[in-house]
Amino acid sequence: MRSFLNSLSGRFFLLTVGFVMLAEVLIFVPSIARFRAEYLMDRLERAQIAALAVLAAMDEPVSPEVEAELLAAAGVYNVVLQRDKARELVLSTTVPAEVSATYDLRDAGPVALIRDAARELVASGDSVIRVIGEPIKSGGRLIEVTMSTAPLRAAMIDYGWRILQLSAVISAITATLLFFVVRAILVMPIRRVVRNMQAYTSAPEDARRIIEPRSRLREIRDAEEALRTLQLQLTRALRQKEHLAALGRAVAKISHDLRNILTSATLLADRMELSEDPTVKRLAPRLVRSLTRAVHLCEGTLAFGRAEEAPPSLAPVDLADLVDEVVEAEELAASERGLATIRSEVPPHTVVRADAEQFQRVLQNIVRNARQAIEQAKRPGDVVISVEDTPEAWTIRVRDTGPGLPPKARENLFRPFQGGARRDGTGLGLAIAEEIVRGHGGTLALEETSEEGTSFVIRLPKRSIALTEAAE
Ligand SMILES: Nc1ncnc2c1ncn2[C@@H]1O[C@H](COP(=O)(O)OP(=O)(O)OP(=O)(O)O)[C@@H](O)[C@H]1O
Ligand SMILES: [Mg+2]
Repeated sequence: MRSFLNSLSGRFFLLTVGFVMLAEVLIFVPSIARFRAEYLMDRLERAQIAALAVLAAMDEPVSPEVEAELLAAAGVYNVVLQRDKARELVLSTTVPAEVSATYDLRDAGPVALIRDAARELVASGDSVIRVIGEPIKSGGRLIEVTMSTAPLRAAMIDYGWRILQLSAVISAITATLLFFVVRAILVMPIRRVVRNMQAYTSAPEDARRIIEPRSRLREIRDAEEALRTLQLQLTRALRQKEHLAALGRAVAKISHDLRNILTSATLLADRMELSEDPTVKRLAPRLVRSLTRAVHLCEGTLAFGRAEEAPPSLAPVDLADLVDEVVEAEELAASERGLATIRSEVPPHTVVRADAEQFQRVLQNIVRNARQAIEQAKRPGDVVISVEDTPEAWTIRVRDTGPGLPPKARENLFRPFQGGARRDGTGLGLAIAEEIVRGHGGTLALEETSEEGTSFVIRLPKRSIALTEAAE
């Protein structure tokens, strides 16, 4: 029952029953007033006929028994029929009670009729009323009867009851018809769309499950067409994603093999430096550099191709030690001594929760970028790594006084392969760093960059996301 009431067709059914009943009530009031007026008119007419019957027998006087019979047949106690000013005809029997009200039908408007009918319905018991009207067929100036209200009320109630039953039948029939029509026109097409959505959701890459717009109703057709467009786009995007994934796997394989080949080539090129030939000796280091760059590219691609970094195994790590290692490594890697000064401001024994190996790569990538930018600008500069320890998080900042991010890098920040603006870079360092930090539940952001320098900020929340969720 509940589900019927909450369904579209169920609601329509109930609303129709309600509305038809309401319409019937609106009709009921005036029609019962009309019924009463007609009833009274009928009584007047019958009384007039009775009076005329007496008139027809004018030569011999009518016995009181016949008079009473005539009045009973007309359903009234008294009749007064004024033929014209002079002549008046009166039939009468005993009236059981005082006349309680007089109704003149000659000048009764609809409002008065409705009001009188309502009064009649609510009144209790039997009473006597006087009714005045115009005789039919110009049979006189005026006719007046006194009558009992009980039969009138009974007839009115009977009539009302019949109207009520009729309305119930009409509304039931209408509602049933509407129920089936709504089902056929609205519910079925909507169900079809919903079923299609469900089927499509279970296998969105299957193009056969895309909906074929079929409804002839404009609104539903629009919905079907919109759904179709959506499904087409989604299916296409999914296919593209599959292609890209396949391509990615192929690139990873190629990079892997290429790296091995290039590594052997580097070893060979190293030996060429020992050659006696001055040209070979001169060119060998350049060859080695190019090969090394190619190896790095392959390694970067491979690292990135491992779809996602392994989830970090978080453990307390001494950040000061970690930063010192990075500083040392970068100082060693510097192409020119003294151009970039790398310094740690991390207080000793600052312990953070992180995956030591992954986090070192993050710092190394950021610090190396800063050093490389300073070296490229050929202007002395500083790189400073500092940390802020608040109850919620560790904020690690790498600030440099280099030339700032070039526009290309700024626009494609953290996008793999796209943000690289250095000649021998791959554009992967920051993307990988960002991914790792995200894996730690933290954020890596570019805080500011200008010609005066750049600073990147890593924010590592102290409470892991899982813990926060559990607490909530
Ligand atoms: N501190 C910085 N100052 C100036 N430019 C920077 C700085 N850090 C990054 N960049 C710019 O952002 C680009 C993208 O850096 P990212 O580390 O992602 O790639 P890459 O250094 O070019 O290559 P990879 O790190 O993969 O070898 C760099 O090419 C560089 O131009
Ligand atoms: Mg880099």
